[in-house]
Amino acid sequence: MRFLFVMDPMDRILPDKDTTFAFQRAAGQRNHESFHALVNEVFVREGRAFAQCRTVSVSDDAPHVTQGTTTTLALEDFDAIFIRKDPPFDAAYLYLTHILELVRGKTLLFNDPRGLRDANEKLYALHFSKWTPRTLVSSSSDVLFAFLKDIGGKGVIKPLDGAGGSGVMMLAEGDQNMRAIVETLTLEGRRLAMLQEYLPAVRKGDKRVLLLDGNVLGGINRVPRADDLRSNIHVGGSVEPTEVTAEERVLIEDIAPRLRADGLFFVGLDLIGGKLTEVNVTSPTGIQEMSRFANRDLAVEVIAWVETKAKATR
Ligand SMILES: Nc1ncnc2c1ncn2[C@@H]1O[C@H](COP(=O)(O)OP(=O)(O)O)[C@@H](O)[C@H]1O
Ligand SMILES: [Mg+2]
Repeated sequence: MRFLFVMDPMDRILPDKDTTFAFQRAAGQRNHESFHALVNEVFVREGRAFAQCRTVSVSDDAPHVTQGTTTTLALEDFDAIFIRKDPPFDAAYLYLTHILELVRGKTLLFNDPRGLRDANEKLYALHFSKWTPRTLVSSSSDVLFAFLKDIGGKGVIKPLDGAGGSGVMMLAEGDQNMRAIVETLTLEGRRLAMLQEYLPAVRKGDKRVLLLDGNVLGGINRVPRADDLRSNIHVGGSVEPTEVTAEERVLIEDIAPRLRADGLFFVGLDLIGGKLTEVNVTSPTGIQEMSRFANRDLAVEVIAWVETKAKATR
């Protein structure tokens, strides 16, 4: 099969960490041909969508990435398109999802652009609010401070378009930075921020569960540094093996039908103390760490699933 990966430049990829790298490696092992394109290399000419793209093959050994020369291919000529651009979900990303609508039904879109548009990674969790910590979304400092009091004077505030722990902060009554933090996160009242009840269980870790078509692929626990609130691997969280508990499976079964309906085939849930804090859909990661603990390459399972789904799509 022919796969297109729409993503950031390959020179930024981390061969032992990135999930997209693992997908490309598994695709190669299964004798598929992978191509790489940047978001701004996707274009439309007279109603047909194309990408300026190049072959990409990856290896565990240096130089890790080999790319061919750039050529123009029609999107419908790919069996599957992996949309793996890292956040933020900006205007360029939004237009990409609109262009991909032109090939709906002609190639597998992984994840579905409609789902990517609908599911802001922070706000989408609010559809499942019986599983989330108490949460408020507002740009008003008065509304935010009132809710902070309500949840016991201690909370976590985050931007709606962040990732990798960027901009996520503790908000505490009595802290002299409290007002400045709210001003910064809301751009002085001009931008929405999310404020959540602080979950003390975060000290034991933030569990990342990867789902493939609503089913559990695997999980890892990410423990924050002693001097940081945030568990993200990107900011120094350490990774340990974990199990997905029976209670967490109830949560997953409850939300899986919605994920499937929205075409969110590959999703990373963030669970702290059994509560859902985030539904990652743009380029969820963790498959390499999970595969090492599981002693098998979970990316191969994803590619095998994509093969079947792509055949059924075209
Ligand atoms: N409600 C919360 N209670 C305690 N810690 C939290 C909470 N929300 C987020 N965190 C911490 O902040 C980190 C990043 O938050 P998250 O909402 O997952 O955003 P990001 O998109 O940056 O990963 C989490 O891994 C966790 O360590
Ligand atoms: Mg997260």
